[in-house]
This record gives sequence, structure tokens and C-alpha cells, in this order.
Amino acid sequence: MSKFEDKLREAQKEAQEELAKVDKIKDLEELKAKYLGRRGTITSLLKNLKEAPEESRPALGKLANEVKDQIEGIFKERFEELKIQEPSKEKRAEFFDYTLPGRKSWSGKLHPITQINEKIIEIFYGMGFEVAKGPDVETDHYNFEALNFPKDHPARDMQDTFYIDDEILLRTHTSPVQIRVMEKRKPPVRIIAPGRCYRHEAINARSYCCFHQVEGFYVDTDVTFADLKGVLSAFVWELFGKEVGVRFRGSFFPFTEPSAEMDIACVNCKGKGCGLCKYRGWLEILGAGMIDPEVFKNVGYDPEVYTGYAFGMGVERIAMLKYGIDDIRLFYENDLRFLRQF
Ligand code: PHE
Repeated sequence: MSKFEDKLREAQKEAQEELAKVDKIKDLEELKAKYLGRRGTITSLLKNLKEAPEESRPALGKLANEVKDQIEGIFKERFEELKIQEPSKEKRAEFFDYTLPGRKSWSGKLHPITQINEKIIEIFYGMGFEVAKGPDVETDHYNFEALNFPKDHPARDMQDTFYIDDEILLRTHTSPVQIRVMEKRKPPVRIIAPGRCYRHEAINARSYCCFHQVEGFYVDTDVTFADLKGVLSAFVWELFGKEVGVRFRGSFFPFTEPSAEMDIACVNCKGKGCGLCKYRGWLEILGAGMIDPEVFKNVGYDPEVYTGYAFGMGVERIAMLKYGIDDIRLFYENDLRFLRQF
């Protein structure tokens, strides 16, 4: 056996042994350079082939190439194995471990205020009401004057208003939609009007500068307070459940006479008394009343022929009672931990 062949076999054996021990791609690459790189052991041996006796060169060249191919083959194999054990970033993305627990994907949802708003509309729609809308930017006339709040009437102090100028303002309630609809249509009209309202108030857990109301009203011949009580009770039982107690308390609004506020038995303590209802057992949910004859005159309805009722409720307040939320600001913070619960 020639010296050349000995060296070749020796290099082959050494490479095989070292390769078996390698367990990192980085080390594998170093090893590859050591044997097969430009100055690598096997490459150098191949270069020195010309020093071997001429007649043995073809056989030795063939052998050297076989050894080189074999070592290269082992490198390739090892590389594929290590790539799986030690994948690069891109490779890692390609591998998918089916045994890992899944990551929950969240589907989009409607905002809780939108949900309650739609529910309220649906209930009244089922009782024959149609939906009407009015502008958020209103005139003093529709927001106050036509609703029987004369200029400088103390009732205007009830609502701190965002004025744009002396005549234009952001509506403080949805009641102006009553006027806009009645001006255009003859009775019978049975309307609900959902929408945003604005009040220039200090923001706290109970009140926010922008909120939602749903207005409702019905005008026809012979509409009575009993009709109002019936419709509102049916609404509350549909939204909060049949067992909920309701009551009406006398109140005042410039555009209704008589006026009332409707309470429901506290959703928390069922009327026994707790922190939520301030130990009264009852929670106020809306204002209502029979439409004042003065309002009918303002829209050209004959108060001798027609009667009607109206009511207005705060959507945030109803959502807070229904879901047990104690701070109105949560609706406007867009915290996903809050929103995902609905
Ligand atoms: N607009 C009144 C408010 O915002 C509520 C109301 C509407 C009362 C209709 C009576 C009739 O407080």
C-alpha cells in the first residue's frame, strides 16, 4: 500500500470519527473546512497526487475521489439531521408542533352599547314602532324651544349644553326627534329614535360627556298613560326578565304632562336594598310622560284631537344595569379585556 493511500485512509477514518461526535451545525461547518476546504486535509492530498508514481496515479485518483465523495455524503447527511434538531428562524416557522395547545383567535364583536341599542330597537320594533333619526348637531329651537323650554326657563339648567353658537348646539337628548317627526307627519305615529347625546358635564363613574339615548313616542287619538305603562313594562320584562318589579314615580319634564320616571327593582339585590340602589331597592331607568299640549301646538297637532306619550332612556345606564358595570367610562376606554366579555 502506498504512502498516499495510507494518508488518505487515515484522513478518512479521522473525518468519520470526528463527524460522528459533532452535534452543532457550526462545528460541522468548521470540520468540513478542515477536510474538504481549500486547504483541507483531503483536498491537499488530492493536490499532492501528482507526486505519486505515474503508473499508480489513475487508481489512486479514483480512490481519492471515492473517499472525498463518501466524506461529502456524510457531511450532507449530518447537516440534514442537525438542521431538524437545530432549525434556523425560517426553518422553525416551517415546522409546526401539532401537540402544542392551540392559541385562541378572537372573533370580532359588536360593542356592548351597540348590542344593547340593537336589542332595545328590536323589542320596540316588535311592538310596532318604527325607527327615526335626527341630527347630533341641533338648533336651540328643536332641542329646547319647541319642547317647551322657553329661553331663560330654569329647566334649561337641567342640562349643561355644548353650544356651537347662540342657536346651534350638540343635542342634549333625543327628544328633538319628536318635533322633527311630528312636523312632517300626521298621527298615528309610533317612533323610536336612537342616537348620541352630549352634555357638558364633569366626567365621572356615572356620567360621560357623550352617551346614547333611545327616544320613543306614540301619538294617536285616545293614547293613554295606561298604554305608556303597558308598553314600558313589556319592554323591561323582555330585556331584564319577567320577574322584575317595575314602578312609576311622578316627575317633571317641560315637554310632558303628567311626567314620570320609571324604576325597576334593583337587579343586584332584587329590591332588598344594597349599595347599587343606595338601599332604596329601586333603580331609575327612564323618563316618560304624556306629550304636553304645548308641544302639539308647536308642531301643528290639535291637542283636542290627539294624545300621545313619550319616553327617553339612557343606553349606557341600561347596559350598566344589565351587565353589572359600575363605571360608564369603561365603555369608552376600548380596553379589550373589558370588551371581550360581551
Ligand atoms: N329627554 C329626557 C331626558 O333626557 C327624557 C324624556 C324623554 C322624558 C321623553 C320624557 C319624555 O332626560
